[in-house]
Amino acid sequence: MHKEFDSKYGLNTQVPVSLNNLETTAPGAEYANKYEGAAIPLVHRIIRQLRTDISRFTFIDLGSGKGRVLLVAAQYPFQSVIGVEFSKILHNIAEANISKFIDQGLMKNRPTSLNIDAGAFDFSLIGDKVIFCNNPFTDKLMLRVLDSLELSFRRTGHQVIFIYLTPIQPAVKEKLDTFQLIRQGRFLSHFGGFQRYFIYRISHL
Ligand SMILES: C[S@@+](CC[C@H](N)C(=O)[O-])C[C@H]1O[C@@H](n2cnc3c(N)ncnc32)[C@H](O)[C@@H]1O
Repeated sequence: MHKEFDSKYGLNTQVPVSLNNLETTAPGAEYANKYEGAAIPLVHRIIRQLRTDISRFTFIDLGSGKGRVLLVAAQYPFQSVIGVEFSKILHNIAEANISKFIDQGLMKNRPTSLNIDAGAFDFSLIGDKVIFCNNPFTDKLMLRVLDSLELSFRRTGHQVIFIYLTPIQPAVKEKLDTFQLIRQGRFLSHFGGFQRYFIYRISHL
């Protein structure tokens, strides 16, 4: 189904990219996981389960790769959709995918792919936000990103909804469990096994 998505719209989102083939000098490179696009029906399901006024929220995919999740999120009325990707190669592919999708009139608003390290993203610049993470990097950086999100919530009071797709490292799960779990579920992935997802609200319990 994902190959058909690519061929139908002339995109390149399906082929995984190993770490060896990702050029980057970003400080977070040592924590990176390889590129692998999320299952499209799962992204739709999760967005539909948010049950909040998403027009007030910016959707941010941390580790957005070739932009597949951005293409899905931009079909919904979020205030804006942003991808953060440290590999220039993947960022360029995302830009090309976005342009092709836009040309076919398939999105409400044009998403933005930013070629930066997720560890350098200043969350306090964005108002209410939905953060989407499809296992982008290992626990050391993820815990730093979660601290930064928590701090931005304390400083600004802006709401943070945090979505995580497995696999998940124990230290990350332990940290996330200090937040309010809104919803969780599992999805039969195209690789055969189940992929689990967790939706949290980052606020004081
Ligand atoms: C498993 S893929 C997920 C891609 C996309 N979010 C999706 O679900 O279709 C993880 C992505 O995170 C990116 N990544 C890893 N470390 C990063 C970092 N420190 N900053 C930004 N992106 C990073 C990788 O290059 C890769 O594209």
